Amino acid sequence: MFGVPRIIGLSGSLRSESFNGKLLRAAVTLAPPGTTIEVASIRGVPLYDYEVEASSGIPPEVATLKDLVAGADGLLLVTPEYNNSMPGVFKNAIDWMSRPPADIPRVFGGRPVGLIGATPGPGGTMLSQAAWLQVLRTLGTLPFFGGRVMISGASKVFDDRGELVDATERARLEKYLAGFARFVEQHGPHRG
Ligand code: FNR
Repeated sequence: MFGVPRIIGLSGSLRSESFNGKLLRAAVTLAPPGTTIEVASIRGVPLYDYEVEASSGIPPEVATLKDLVAGADGLLLVTPEYNNSMPGVFKNAIDWMSRPPADIPRVFGGRPVGLIGATPGPGGTMLSQAAWLQVLRTLGTLPFFGGRVMISGASKVFDDRGELVDATERARLEKYLAGFARFVEQHGPHRG
């Protein structure tokens, strides 16, 4: 029997008014019944430094994130776009989480991963999402390709309280999450 699918959601922005943080919070409320999206944070993850790793090991913030993802059924990355790619702070967090390499299968191997994003610009984070695919492949994840959420003009789709109020984008996100939840249920590594 498969229990309630549990998905860890990570936003790639540290900004308190982040559109991607708002998108992740919208995803929490629009997840289909029976699926839980738990918000985790990359805040506090230091810059990757080989010498720090060699002398002190994995920082506690990183170890916590790794264990959260390893214990979940799926991972939802909510990514901004910086200079037509993913933000360094987000990549840095995932890079730390990929250490040591022997632990990659436990954290990322075969793990269903959803990828969505928002930008105030016109491109909907399309190039950032494309850049993430290389990383997701390298880590041996199982990316979900059953839909796309690429929010452009983000300042118009969220209201002052940070709610996703645009009906089209809400419906798109809801449909994406329903598909992703099914995908997690079918492929999640923690069935049984
Ligand atoms: C941006 N922004 C941006 N937007 C975009 O659509 N394509 C891009 O290539 C870039 N490049 C870029 C570079 C840098 C260094 C910054 C700081 C910003 C704008 C970006 O989408 C905007 O700041 C978002 O609000 C960031 O996401 P959060 O923080 O709102 O989640």
